Amino acid sequence: MSVSNILKAVFPAAGLGTRFLPATKNQPKEMLSLYDKPAIQYVIEEAAGAGLKDILIIIAPNKRSIIDHFDRNELLEKYLEARGKEELAKKIKKISEIARLHYTYQVDPLGLGHAVLMAEPFIGNSPFAVYLADDIIDPPPSGKNASQQMIDLFSETGSSVIALEAVSWEKVSGYGVVDGKKIGERKIKITNVVEKPSREEAPSNLTIVGRYIFTPTIFELLKNTPAGRNGEIQLTDAIQKLIEIEPVYGLEFEGRRFDTGDPAGFLEATVEFALKGEDSERIRKYLIELSKKL
Ligand code: UTP
Repeated sequence: MSVSNILKAVFPAAGLGTRFLPATKNQPKEMLSLYDKPAIQYVIEEAAGAGLKDILIIIAPNKRSIIDHFDRNELLEKYLEARGKEELAKKIKKISEIARLHYTYQVDPLGLGHAVLMAEPFIGNSPFAVYLADDIIDPPPSGKNASQQMIDLFSETGSSVIALEAVSWEKVSGYGVVDGKKIGERKIKITNVVEKPSREEAPSNLTIVGRYIFTPTIFELLKNTPAGRNGEIQLTDAIQKLIEIEPVYGLEFEGRRFDTGDPAGFLEATVEFALKGEDSERIRKYLIELSKKL
């Protein structure tokens, strides 16, 4: 049995999405469509593509449309079949077969750390993966997706692994930033994490991306993490404690990452995915025309 078969995954998706208001007033940001597919489906497909088929999604009470999206819609399937659109009907049915999805509610948005802690009964005493659906990672053209690359490093080390991306120094203040010792190409042993440091204080330009593999030790640490910034339990605080008691590795994954948590990043990702889709020629022509006017 491969490591991916024993890893379960957790998708915290109970945040309020304030950077995307008013779109997210009554609609989960995870369900906003990147070209023709909701953002969260891309990320569930990435996890399932790496063999992580048991997935817990932490949702808020007003986010039930996520459950509906991954459920069967037999009425729609029959409607499409009756009109000769069998391929489309199959595509719709397959959405419910991507992975075994489970759900739990985080009623109050008490922070990402709190949301991850809610997964403990589902995970038990095993390592597990965490995905933030804001971060969509397009895999390299001929290669493993980011999850597979992280699982490889986890298999090698048996330790927690955090996805990293080098960003320009102007952007470091918007992210969790790590310090560490290089142990190989794209791999570091993390020695320190700092949440949203100023450019001057940032120990590096390596930022944390929303993909993690944790040993279950993180649960004990989260239980003892007091509420921090904004009264929320911060995952970064627990990661800092984890680094102090266990090795934690960082992986600069190969692949293109989009931060779709705000409208501009979302638009960039939409354009990129549209350029890969069926209407790519039309979009390409449109962009060329548009660029002449800019
Ligand atoms: P963010 O910090 O991006 O917050 O959460 P947010 O509410 O989603 O969006 P903004 O910043 O207000 O626009 C990071 C991840 O943690 C989840 C979010 O759903 C997102 O996937 N989260 C955050 C929870 O599940 N619960 C929380 O209490 C907070």
